[in-house]
Amino acid sequence: MFLSVIILAAGKGTRMNSSKPKVFHEIANYPLLYHVVDSIKQLKPNSFNIVISNEIAEKTKEISKLYKDQNLKFSVQKKQLGTGHAVKCVKDLRYVNINDVTLILFADTPLIKINTLKKLVLKCKNKADLTILAMQPEDPKNYGRVMLKKGMVEKIVEFSEATPEDKKISLCNSGVMAVKTKLLLDFLTHLNSNNSKKEFFLTDLVDIFVKNKKTVVYHKCDYEETLGVNDREDLHHINNIFQKLKYQNLSKNGVSILDKNSVYFSYDTKIGKDSVVYPNVYFGKNVKIGKNVKVKSFSNLEDVYIAENCEIGPFARIRNHTNIEKDTRIGNFVELKKSKISQNVKISHLSYIGDASIDLNTNIGAGTITCNYDGKNKNKTEIGENCFIGSNSSLIAPIKIKKNSIVGAGTVLKNDVSRNTTVFRKSTLVKKKNMKSK
Ligand code: UD1
Ligand code: CA
Repeated sequence: MFLSVIILAAGKGTRMNSSKPKVFHEIANYPLLYHVVDSIKQLKPNSFNIVISNEIAEKTKEISKLYKDQNLKFSVQKKQLGTGHAVKCVKDLRYVNINDVTLILFADTPLIKINTLKKLVLKCKNKADLTILAMQPEDPKNYGRVMLKKGMVEKIVEFSEATPEDKKISLCNSGVMAVKTKLLLDFLTHLNSNNSKKEFFLTDLVDIFVKNKKTVVYHKCDYEETLGVNDREDLHHINNIFQKLKYQNLSKNGVSILDKNSVYFSYDTKIGKDSVVYPNVYFGKNVKIGKNVKVKSFSNLEDVYIAENCEIGPFARIRNHTNIEKDTRIGNFVELKKSKISQNVKISHLSYIGDASIDLNTNIGAGTITCNYDGKNKNKTEIGENCFIGSNSSLIAPIKIKKNSIVGAGTVLKNDVSRNTTVFRKSTLVKKKNMKSK
């Protein structure tokens, strides 16, 4: 089957009250649009179309680059004249066989499961000419209502056009549909905007299909999957659901999350078996954690790889391509930036380690700072294996401390240290009687 997909992403998103297009608002640190494109990718469509507004047009290069293996085609809908009009804007609709299907869905609906979409497409291919994805929420709000006759779909009535009687119908339209491409092309031209909103409703296709003796059926899925974003409260609500699903998934895979309500995951957070996440931890984008790692409370991780058996935090901040090898301990109030920390290193308290590499078995004392910035450039600190850096030392980069060396506590160090060497500042303690106590 030749599968075409159309994602509608041209809506104004007025209720977001934002200068950013709605589909670039994020769930779990990832734009709504990308959540949808990522799921569609798994269906391996032959033709992948996105309908966008003028304001997104400048972003198409960026999107194509991100999905360079997908051959995305963008169609601009200059005026938002409705979902039916948006589909009409797609230039590249094709079919090879009479049973080829086009799947149409919205970019602001990120929770739909891939299995649901597969079922919808197959149902359309095998049993119908048009299949709509329906749901039955407790409160049908202002969703379009699905009217049935003998189990088949007869019509979708938009809320704006519905009579009080229609509004009593509890089966609602999710907005997603799968349709035989040939028939879509034949009947799209029949859509008109003779309604109270003066919009071309895609949902009018149902009526047109039925009147032309075509089969229209529905597939029902969980309401939760069909939730869409209209305003910031929806965004928050859907984000919470995404967090819940991520929590369930990680738990199933053997991760212990001690308080699901206070941990925040990104869409791509990966955590290995038997790891434990304590309350109040934030996972920014691109965090991969190995097996049996403890991430303790109030840690903030972003763009970091942590290998197995490490202990992180509480109150650790780790960011920018930091790589931590196994059996390492990063303690409280430690910030690591763009650093490579080898196996069995200990940085247990109150340190800033930036643009640094620290080799095997080295111990970094409390209060150690890599002075990586000279006002113009960021410079590197390299510390070899089996070193001991005494507490409260300032290592002024660029600097190399070779293996098996010791830096005494409170040392301000500007020069490299060769291997097997101990360095410390010799300062005399001045002792005087206090004038007052005379
Ligand atoms: C739509 C359905 C309604 C369904 C509801 C589910 C229609 C006519 N109605 O209504 O039956 O219950 O979704 O949430 O389809 N868009 C464009 N161009 C436009 C208008 C919209 O690209 O000119 C895109 C939007 O970006 C959005 C999607 O289409 O992603 C849905 O548009 P929206 O205006 O939110 O439709 P609803 O009124 O919610
Ligand atoms: Ca909507």
